[in-house]
Amino acid sequence: MLHDELTIKTTRISASRINTVDWDNLPFGKVFSDHMLVMDYKDGEWQQPEILPFGALDLHPATSAIHYGQSIFEGMKATKDEDGNVLIFRPDLNAKRFHESCERMCMPTLSESTFIELIKKTVNMDREWVPSKEGYALYIRPFMFATDDFIGIKPSDTYKFIIFTCPVGAYYSQPVNVKIEEYYTRAVEGGVGRAKTAGNYAASLYPAKLAKEQGFDQLIWTDAKEHKFIEESGTMNVVFEIDGKMVTPAEDTDTILRGVTKRSVVDVAKSWGIPVEEREISVEELVKALREGRVTDAFGAGTAATIAQIAKIGYRDDLFELPDPKTRETSNKISAYLRNLKAGKTTDEFGWLLKF
Ligand code: COI
Repeated sequence: MLHDELTIKTTRISASRINTVDWDNLPFGKVFSDHMLVMDYKDGEWQQPEILPFGALDLHPATSAIHYGQSIFEGMKATKDEDGNVLIFRPDLNAKRFHESCERMCMPTLSESTFIELIKKTVNMDREWVPSKEGYALYIRPFMFATDDFIGIKPSDTYKFIIFTCPVGAYYSQPVNVKIEEYYTRAVEGGVGRAKTAGNYAASLYPAKLAKEQGFDQLIWTDAKEHKFIEESGTMNVVFEIDGKMVTPAEDTDTILRGVTKRSVVDVAKSWGIPVEEREISVEELVKALREGRVTDAFGAGTAATIAQIAKIGYRDDLFELPDPKTRETSNKISAYLRNLKAGKTTDEFGWLLKF
């Protein structure tokens, strides 16, 4: 386990790139801060972590992750309060999910405290890169991949764990249109849908491309067996307001990623007395409620996506338009609550923020 007093070998960048950044027009995921943390796994144990200037990696062409996909990642965000403290939202949940992904993908684990400590050290190194402007954040991308230079199939004996950070703006800049997918599949029972592993995202690209050609920003995935139940949206979990109740697919399956933002939405809604149901939602139920105008709100919840209101839902030949996003009480209120919390403007009543 790594402790605060642990000194990480650090090589600073010779000249920061921070002044080259257009802080008022930050895209998602294209601007990278000055440093990254790299830690290797070999001989059955994690080696000393190092902080280095952000830059390219030197990889063997047979690096096993490239061929067989033993690769996992996480995403979280750091923001700043008015006093310049850095706030990271619920990193403990990301640490737990990372641990689960490691186990599912046969990769070495990291303890929750080590994971969080390394995140803290990396962010602290580039803390001036944490945007202070509302709606912006420093996206933190920890990831791990298999590095054996071997093209036989087996769990690798060596790995790289890396954390880099990017100052980001919105992932979706406006409400999204989504399509209920009834042919392609994101995840199957017994598969890896609950792990945050690279292949899940690769598999979604082709169906998402087809949906884009039809004017949709994303898909709503359904179960692989019958395509009868709503699952998640790939870049985010999905939440609906039907008949005044918040309804979202239960996560007691291995086909849905356990979203940190979705969990927080549910916790906040419950604390406000909003009735919340985490359960199976059939496509039939949702479509019927859409036809009858009983869906008063719908949104995606994700770290990158934050609260992404859903404008339209496509199902077969129908396109259902939801109420004007600006007038929706629940998603706007929850979105504002989380934004203010992350900006340090609201008391951290749930103890969700790691502050330093
Ligand atoms: C995240 O929300 O952090 C994700 O990993 C999703 C990805 C679309 C950026």
